[in-house]
Amino acid sequence: MALQTNEKCTVESKEEEEVQSCDQTKTSTVRDLSQEELDRLSSERTLVSEFKQMKLEKEAQKNWDLFYKRNTTNFFKDRHWTTREFDELRACREFESQKLVLLEAGCGVGNCIFPLLEDDLNIFVYACDFSPRAVEFVKKNPLYCPERCCAFQCDLTKDDLLENVPENNVDVVTLIFVLSAVHPDKMKLALENVGKVLKPGGIILFRDYGLYDHAMLRFKAGSKLGENFYVRQDGTRSYFFSKEFLAKLFEEVGFESVANEYVLRETVNKKEGLCVPRVFLQSKFVKRS
Ligand SMILES: C[S@@+](CC[C@H](N)C(=O)[O-])C[C@H]1O[C@@H](n2cnc3c(N)ncnc32)[C@H](O)[C@@H]1O
Repeated sequence: MALQTNEKCTVESKEEEEVQSCDQTKTSTVRDLSQEELDRLSSERTLVSEFKQMKLEKEAQKNWDLFYKRNTTNFFKDRHWTTREFDELRACREFESQKLVLLEAGCGVGNCIFPLLEDDLNIFVYACDFSPRAVEFVKKNPLYCPERCCAFQCDLTKDDLLENVPENNVDVVTLIFVLSAVHPDKMKLALENVGKVLKPGGIILFRDYGLYDHAMLRFKAGSKLGENFYVRQDGTRSYFFSKEFLAKLFEEVGFESVANEYVLRETVNKKEGLCVPRVFLQSKFVKRS
Protein backbone atom coordinates (compact mmCIF):
# COMPACT_ATOMS: atom_id res chain seq x y z
CA MET A 1 0.00 0.00 0.00
CA ALA A 2 1.44 3.40 -1.01
CA LEU A 3 1.27 5.40 2.20
CA GLN A 4 2.03 9.04 1.75
CA THR A 5 1.13 11.08 4.81
CA ASN A 6 -0.11 10.45 8.29
CA GLU A 7 -1.58 13.29 10.23
CA LYS A 8 -3.95 14.23 13.04
CA CYS A 9 -7.47 15.20 12.20
CA THR A 10 -10.73 15.94 13.95
CA VAL A 11 -14.23 14.56 13.51
CA GLU A 12 -16.36 15.93 10.71
CA SER A 13 -20.00 15.39 11.47
CA LYS A 14 -22.43 14.89 14.30
CA GLU A 15 -22.85 11.35 12.99
CA GLU A 16 -19.40 10.72 14.45
CA GLU A 17 -19.64 12.96 17.46
CA GLU A 18 -18.93 10.20 19.93
CA VAL A 19 -15.80 9.49 17.98
CA GLN A 20 -12.45 10.71 19.20
CA SER A 21 -9.94 12.49 17.00
CA CYS A 22 -7.89 10.05 14.96
CA ASP A 23 -5.01 9.57 12.54
CA GLN A 24 -5.51 9.78 8.80
CA THR A 25 -3.46 8.18 6.08
CA LYS A 26 -3.37 9.02 2.40
CA THR A 27 -3.01 6.24 -0.10
CA SER A 28 -3.34 5.66 -3.82
CA THR A 29 -4.77 2.16 -3.42
CA VAL A 30 -8.23 1.08 -2.39
CA ARG A 31 -8.87 -0.24 1.12
CA ASP A 32 -8.38 -4.01 1.56
CA LEU A 33 -11.55 -5.83 2.58
CA SER A 34 -11.77 -9.07 4.52
CA GLN A 35 -13.26 -12.09 2.72
CA GLU A 36 -16.38 -11.72 4.87
CA GLU A 37 -16.79 -8.09 3.85
CA LEU A 38 -16.26 -8.94 0.17
CA ASP A 39 -18.84 -11.74 0.41
CA ARG A 40 -21.33 -9.44 2.08
CA LEU A 41 -20.97 -6.80 -0.64
CA SER A 42 -21.19 -9.24 -3.53
CA SER A 43 -24.18 -11.09 -2.03
CA GLU A 44 -26.27 -7.91 -2.25
CA ARG A 45 -27.62 -8.30 -5.79
CA THR A 46 -31.20 -7.07 -5.41
CA LEU A 47 -31.59 -3.46 -6.37
CA VAL A 48 -34.33 -1.07 -5.27
CA SER A 49 -37.14 -1.21 -7.89
CA GLU A 50 -37.03 1.15 -10.84
CA PHE A 51 -40.27 2.78 -9.70
CA LYS A 52 -38.81 3.58 -6.26
CA GLN A 53 -35.57 4.78 -7.83
CA MET A 54 -37.47 7.22 -10.04
CA LYS A 55 -39.40 8.47 -7.00
CA LEU A 56 -36.14 9.00 -5.08
CA GLU A 57 -34.71 10.99 -7.98
CA LYS A 58 -37.88 13.08 -8.27
CA GLU A 59 -37.91 13.73 -4.53
CA ALA A 60 -34.19 14.25 -3.99
CA GLN A 61 -34.56 17.95 -3.29
CA LYS A 62 -37.52 17.42 -0.97
CA ASN A 63 -35.63 14.73 0.97
CA TRP A 64 -32.62 16.99 1.54
CA ASP A 65 -34.88 19.86 2.53
CA LEU A 66 -36.60 17.58 5.09
CA PHE A 67 -33.15 16.55 6.32
CA TYR A 68 -32.47 20.22 7.19
CA LYS A 69 -35.97 20.61 8.68
CA ARG A 70 -35.16 17.76 11.08
CA ASN A 71 -31.52 18.54 11.79
CA THR A 72 -31.46 22.33 11.27
CA THR A 73 -27.80 23.44 11.53
CA ASN A 74 -26.88 20.72 14.01
CA PHE A 75 -25.81 17.78 11.87
CA PHE A 76 -22.49 18.55 10.20
CA LYS A 77 -19.64 20.07 12.15
CA ASP A 78 -17.80 23.10 10.81
CA ARG A 79 -15.10 21.89 8.45
CA HIS A 80 -11.99 23.52 9.85
CA TRP A 81 -9.71 21.15 7.94
CA THR A 82 -10.20 22.62 4.47
CA THR A 83 -7.26 25.06 4.52
CA ARG A 84 -4.98 22.33 5.91
CA GLU A 85 -5.97 19.85 3.20
CA PHE A 86 -6.27 22.33 0.33
CA ASP A 87 -3.54 24.96 0.44
CA GLU A 88 -4.97 26.45 -2.81
CA LEU A 89 -7.55 28.13 -0.58
CA ARG A 90 -4.73 30.29 0.72
CA ALA A 91 -2.18 30.22 -2.04
CA CYS A 92 -3.73 30.27 -5.48
CA ARG A 93 -3.71 34.05 -5.91
CA GLU A 94 -1.47 35.63 -8.55
CA PHE A 95 -0.74 38.58 -6.26
CA GLU A 96 -1.12 38.85 -2.50
CA SER A 97 -3.94 41.38 -2.36
CA GLN A 98 -6.05 39.52 -4.93
CA LYS A 99 -9.54 38.60 -3.73
CA LEU A 100 -10.14 34.88 -4.09
CA VAL A 101 -13.53 34.01 -5.60
CA LEU A 102 -14.90 30.70 -4.47
CA LEU A 103 -18.01 28.65 -5.25
CA GLU A 104 -19.10 26.12 -2.64
CA ALA A 105 -21.45 23.93 -4.68
CA GLY A 106 -23.95 22.07 -2.46
CA CYS A 107 -23.12 24.23 0.54
CA GLY A 108 -25.64 22.79 3.01
CA VAL A 109 -25.88 25.17 5.97
CA GLY A 110 -22.38 26.54 5.35
CA ASN A 111 -20.12 24.33 7.47
CA CYS A 112 -17.41 24.64 4.85
CA ILE A 113 -17.69 28.35 4.01
CA PHE A 114 -18.06 30.03 7.39
CA PRO A 115 -14.71 28.83 8.79
CA LEU A 116 -13.14 30.20 5.58
CA LEU A 117 -14.91 33.53 5.85
CA GLU A 118 -13.87 33.76 9.48
CA ASP A 119 -10.29 32.93 8.60
CA ASP A 120 -9.63 34.90 5.48
CA LEU A 121 -10.87 38.43 5.00
CA ASN A 122 -9.97 38.55 1.34
CA ILE A 123 -12.39 36.04 -0.10
CA PHE A 124 -15.74 36.23 -1.87
CA VAL A 125 -17.92 33.15 -1.66
CA TYR A 126 -20.78 32.04 -3.89
CA ALA A 127 -22.67 29.26 -2.14
CA CYS A 128 -25.55 27.24 -3.52
CA ASP A 129 -27.66 24.30 -2.50
CA PHE A 130 -30.89 22.80 -3.79
CA SER A 131 -32.48 22.77 -0.33
CA PRO A 132 -34.21 26.14 0.18
CA ARG A 133 -34.03 25.60 3.95
CA ALA A 134 -30.26 25.09 3.85
CA VAL A 135 -29.84 28.32 1.86
CA GLU A 136 -31.98 30.19 4.39
CA PHE A 137 -29.77 28.88 7.23
CA VAL A 138 -26.71 30.16 5.37
CA LYS A 139 -28.27 33.60 4.94
CA LYS A 140 -29.22 33.75 8.63
CA ASN A 141 -25.69 32.98 9.84
CA PRO A 142 -24.23 36.02 11.64
CA LEU A 143 -21.11 35.74 9.44
CA TYR A 144 -23.18 36.09 6.26
CA CYS A 145 -23.00 39.48 4.59
CA PRO A 146 -23.71 40.29 0.92
CA GLU A 147 -20.35 42.07 0.52
CA ARG A 148 -18.54 38.77 1.08
CA CYS A 149 -21.04 36.09 0.25
CA CYS A 150 -23.87 35.30 -2.16
CA ALA A 151 -26.04 32.29 -1.34
CA PHE A 152 -28.69 31.02 -3.72
CA GLN A 153 -30.87 28.01 -4.34
CA CYS A 154 -29.92 25.86 -7.32
CA ASP A 155 -30.08 22.26 -8.51
CA LEU A 156 -26.59 21.72 -9.92
CA THR A 157 -27.89 19.13 -12.38
CA LYS A 158 -30.64 21.39 -13.79
CA ASP A 159 -30.30 25.10 -13.11
CA ASP A 160 -27.73 27.12 -15.00
CA LEU A 161 -25.18 28.53 -12.53
CA LEU A 162 -24.66 31.43 -14.95
CA GLU A 163 -27.94 32.87 -13.68
CA ASN A 164 -26.17 33.71 -10.42
CA VAL A 165 -22.44 33.62 -11.11
CA PRO A 166 -20.62 35.35 -14.00
CA GLU A 167 -18.98 33.10 -16.60
CA ASN A 168 -15.29 32.17 -16.04
CA ASN A 169 -15.29 34.15 -12.80
CA VAL A 170 -14.47 31.70 -10.02
CA ASP A 171 -10.93 30.75 -8.91
CA VAL A 172 -11.87 27.74 -6.80
CA VAL A 173 -14.91 25.43 -6.65
CA THR A 174 -15.34 23.23 -3.60
CA LEU A 175 -17.33 20.00 -3.88
CA ILE A 176 -17.41 18.67 -0.34
CA PHE A 177 -19.58 15.56 0.20
CA VAL A 178 -21.95 16.75 -2.55
CA LEU A 179 -21.36 14.77 -5.73
CA SER A 180 -22.08 11.55 -3.79
CA ALA A 181 -25.65 12.82 -3.33
CA VAL A 182 -26.15 13.22 -7.09
CA HIS A 183 -27.34 10.32 -9.28
CA PRO A 184 -24.27 8.94 -11.15
CA ASP A 185 -26.04 9.56 -14.50
CA LYS A 186 -26.25 13.27 -13.66
CA MET A 187 -22.81 13.86 -12.15
CA LYS A 188 -21.41 15.05 -15.48
CA LEU A 189 -24.20 17.63 -15.80
CA ALA A 190 -23.26 19.04 -12.40
CA LEU A 191 -19.56 19.19 -13.34
CA GLU A 192 -20.26 20.85 -16.70
CA ASN A 193 -22.34 23.42 -14.86
CA VAL A 194 -19.60 24.34 -12.35
CA GLY A 195 -17.08 24.26 -15.21
CA LYS A 196 -18.87 27.22 -16.84
CA VAL A 197 -18.27 29.58 -13.93
CA LEU A 198 -14.71 28.43 -13.19
CA LYS A 199 -11.86 30.40 -14.79
CA PRO A 200 -9.66 28.46 -17.25
CA GLY A 201 -6.88 27.07 -15.08
CA GLY A 202 -9.19 27.31 -12.03
CA ILE A 203 -9.37 24.41 -9.62
CA ILE A 204 -12.03 22.09 -8.17
CA LEU A 205 -11.30 20.83 -4.65
CA PHE A 206 -13.12 17.59 -3.95
CA ARG A 207 -13.66 15.45 -0.87
CA ASP A 208 -16.33 12.77 -0.64
CA TYR A 209 -17.08 9.17 0.35
CA GLY A 210 -14.55 6.66 -0.95
CA LEU A 211 -15.06 3.09 -2.05
CA TYR A 212 -15.45 0.63 0.88
CA ASP A 213 -16.02 3.34 3.45
CA HIS A 214 -17.53 1.94 6.64
CA ALA A 215 -20.85 3.63 5.77
CA MET A 216 -21.00 1.66 2.49
CA LEU A 217 -20.55 -1.67 4.27
CA ARG A 218 -23.17 -0.80 6.86
CA PHE A 219 -26.11 -0.48 4.44
CA LYS A 220 -28.82 -3.07 5.07
CA ALA A 221 -30.34 -5.29 2.35
CA GLY A 222 -32.81 -3.33 0.24
CA SER A 223 -30.74 -0.12 0.17
CA LYS A 224 -28.74 -0.73 -2.98
CA LEU A 225 -29.58 1.47 -5.98
CA GLY A 226 -26.74 0.48 -8.29
CA GLU A 227 -23.00 -0.12 -8.31
CA ASN A 228 -21.55 1.70 -5.25
CA PHE A 229 -24.81 3.67 -4.89
CA TYR A 230 -27.15 3.38 -1.88
CA VAL A 231 -30.16 5.04 -0.27
CA ARG A 232 -30.33 5.99 3.40
CA GLN A 233 -33.46 5.58 5.53
CA ASP A 234 -34.34 9.25 5.06
CA GLY A 235 -34.33 8.96 1.25
CA THR A 236 -31.02 10.79 0.72
CA ARG A 237 -28.59 8.85 -1.44
CA SER A 238 -24.88 8.23 -1.38
CA TYR A 239 -22.39 7.14 -4.01
CA PHE A 240 -18.98 5.76 -2.95
CA PHE A 241 -16.21 6.84 -5.32
CA SER A 242 -13.25 4.94 -6.67
CA LYS A 243 -10.45 7.22 -7.82
CA GLU A 244 -10.59 5.73 -11.32
CA PHE A 245 -14.31 6.49 -11.66
CA LEU A 246 -13.81 10.06 -10.45
CA ALA A 247 -10.79 10.78 -12.67
CA LYS A 248 -12.64 9.53 -15.76
CA LEU A 249 -15.71 11.60 -14.91
CA PHE A 250 -13.71 14.82 -14.59
CA GLU A 251 -11.49 14.14 -17.60
CA GLU A 252 -14.54 13.60 -19.81
CA VAL A 253 -15.82 17.09 -19.03
CA GLY A 254 -12.56 18.97 -19.58
CA PHE A 255 -10.63 18.74 -16.32
CA GLU A 256 -7.14 17.49 -15.59
CA SER A 257 -6.43 15.55 -12.42
CA VAL A 258 -3.69 17.04 -10.21
CA ALA A 259 -4.35 15.00 -7.05
CA ASN A 260 -6.61 12.02 -6.41
CA GLU A 261 -6.11 9.79 -3.39
CA TYR A 262 -7.93 7.93 -0.67
CA VAL A 263 -7.91 9.23 2.87
CA LEU A 264 -8.14 6.41 5.40
CA ARG A 265 -9.12 7.06 8.99
CA GLU A 266 -9.57 4.65 11.82
CA THR A 267 -12.16 6.39 13.96
CA VAL A 268 -12.53 5.16 17.51
CA ASN A 269 -15.80 5.31 19.34
CA LYS A 270 -14.50 5.19 22.91
CA LYS A 271 -17.96 4.80 24.44
CA GLU A 272 -18.75 1.65 22.48
CA GLY A 273 -15.16 0.47 22.13
CA LEU A 274 -15.61 0.35 18.35
CA CYS A 275 -13.04 1.14 15.73
CA VAL A 276 -14.48 1.95 12.32
CA PRO A 277 -12.56 2.40 9.07
CA ARG A 278 -13.63 5.51 7.18
CA VAL A 279 -12.56 6.03 3.57
CA PHE A 280 -12.80 9.35 1.77
CA LEU A 281 -11.58 10.36 -1.66
CA GLN A 282 -9.73 13.67 -1.79
CA SER A 283 -8.89 15.18 -5.15
CA LYS A 284 -8.04 18.28 -7.14
CA PHE A 285 -8.93 18.93 -10.78
CA VAL A 286 -7.89 21.86 -12.95
CA LYS A 287 -10.06 23.25 -15.77
CA ARG A 288 -8.15 22.96 -19.04
CA SER A 289 -7.47 26.31 -20.68
C1 LIG B 1 -23.56 16.14 2.83
S1 LIG B 1 -24.18 17.73 2.45
C2 LIG B 1 -22.68 18.65 2.34
C3 LIG B 1 -22.84 20.09 2.61
C4 LIG B 1 -21.58 20.96 2.58
N1 LIG B 1 -20.84 20.87 1.35
C5 LIG B 1 -20.64 20.70 3.74
O1 LIG B 1 -19.46 20.56 3.52
O2 LIG B 1 -21.10 20.64 4.87
C6 LIG B 1 -24.69 17.53 0.76
C7 LIG B 1 -25.45 18.73 0.23
O3 LIG B 1 -25.62 18.61 -1.19
C8 LIG B 1 -26.86 19.18 -1.53
N2 LIG B 1 -27.23 18.66 -2.86
C9 LIG B 1 -27.48 17.38 -3.19
N3 LIG B 1 -27.79 17.30 -4.50
C10 LIG B 1 -27.72 18.56 -5.00
C11 LIG B 1 -27.95 19.12 -6.29
N4 LIG B 1 -28.33 18.37 -7.33
N5 LIG B 1 -27.80 20.45 -6.45
C12 LIG B 1 -27.43 21.23 -5.38
N6 LIG B 1 -27.21 20.75 -4.15
C13 LIG B 1 -27.36 19.43 -3.96
C14 LIG B 1 -27.77 18.75 -0.40
O4 LIG B 1 -28.92 19.56 -0.28
C15 LIG B 1 -26.85 18.87 0.81
O5 LIG B 1 -26.98 20.12 1.42
